Amino acid sequence: MIAEIKSYFTGYECSRCHKYYSGDALQTVCRDEDCGRPLVANYDLNAAQLSLSLETLRNRSDSMWRYGEVLLVDPSQAITLGEGLTPLIRTDRLRAMAQGSSDTPFHLWVKDESSNPTGSFKARGLCMAISVLNSLDASAAALPTAGNAGAAAAAYAARAGMDCHVAMPADTPQTMMDEVEAYGAHLYTVDGLIGDAAKIIRKGAEEENWFDLSTLKEPYRVEGKKTMGYELWEQFGGKLPDAILYPTGGGTGLIGMWKAFQELIEMGLYEGSLPRMYAVQSTGCAPIVHAFKTNQDRTIAWQNANTIAPGIRIPTPFADDLILAALKDSGGGAVEVSDEHIKLAMKTMSRVEGIDACPEGAATFAALDQLMLQSEINSDEDVVLFNTGTGLKHPELR
Ligand SMILES: Cc1ncc(COP(=O)(O)O)c(C=O)c1O
Ligand SMILES: [Zn+2]
Repeated sequence: MIAEIKSYFTGYECSRCHKYYSGDALQTVCRDEDCGRPLVANYDLNAAQLSLSLETLRNRSDSMWRYGEVLLVDPSQAITLGEGLTPLIRTDRLRAMAQGSSDTPFHLWVKDESSNPTGSFKARGLCMAISVLNSLDASAAALPTAGNAGAAAAAYAARAGMDCHVAMPADTPQTMMDEVEAYGAHLYTVDGLIGDAAKIIRKGAEEENWFDLSTLKEPYRVEGKKTMGYELWEQFGGKLPDAILYPTGGGTGLIGMWKAFQELIEMGLYEGSLPRMYAVQSTGCAPIVHAFKTNQDRTIAWQNANTIAPGIRIPTPFADDLILAALKDSGGGAVEVSDEHIKLAMKTMSRVEGIDACPEGAATFAALDQLMLQSEINSDEDVVLFNTGTGLKHPELR
């Protein structure tokens, strides 16, 4: 079934200076020396809309490749492990635990990404990236990671028969290091943060021709992550929720979903208001929250970043401007929560709904209390929390 769907990808464009780049060669960031900002993919959406609809989706594969018209390669070329189409779970008992929810009844949903291959939403982006690298004959994939992206890259590279190099902080949960090695990738650890891990990858890219898949320094991963936006639209029956709470590190998922919503509008598949996007970070590393609250369009590097949620321990998100623009344009915001509150939220989600959330996912439930206190959530609204991965990778937090 998926073999019949055709991609309508046309090429890349710089997110800042709008210069065009070919889709037939490997691309990184804008090569204009005064620019260097992320590239974004374009599609022939007029053509895509002729075959993409709620109706036609009904008979398609149970993976993110069901949205093949708006993905970078034809689904027949995908290096796939069945990623995407994760459950959207209505969580009434959890909602009742949120502060003030009896006065302001709303509908709470958890988009549970833990059922993806390698146990996190990183599967979507790395599936897409490795599929593109494979189609353009890249020799090796490489990336610095907070853990989950490395595990996903290693798995998809194994499936493609491609070499893979993964660098991460030495204090990353052991489970994620074990995953990378189990998939046969080369693991490098550094005493430091993700920026220090990135130095190893940059050196390998210069000297050994590894392809550097650092967050948003290539235009591929975001196109896989955007399928979370398409899924919400499909799972809400052609509608979109009112608010989305997303644990934000490098911001790929948030930027990707925001892009998906614009594409849906352009294809005439959605009209109406767009969700308010809320970035959730830890008080131990909250560059986006700080920039948003002080009305800046770029972040300042966060000093001494420290949190139990490794995926949101990103002191200098490269695409900070795109994250902040999405928050602002959507009428959303940014919330920071303490590690204590995150731990408590993990326990609550497990005990009240049977959802074993990763700390990053649990942070979104912790953030809900603050949004309620600030009267950001209104009666009858649909509110979606993103649980981006499984709690099983975090025995250290039990
Ligand atoms: C479980 C988890 N949640 C959230 C994030 C942040 O993702 P993004 O780069 O899309 O902001 C990560 C990134 O490592 C992660 O592993
Ligand atoms: Zn540019």
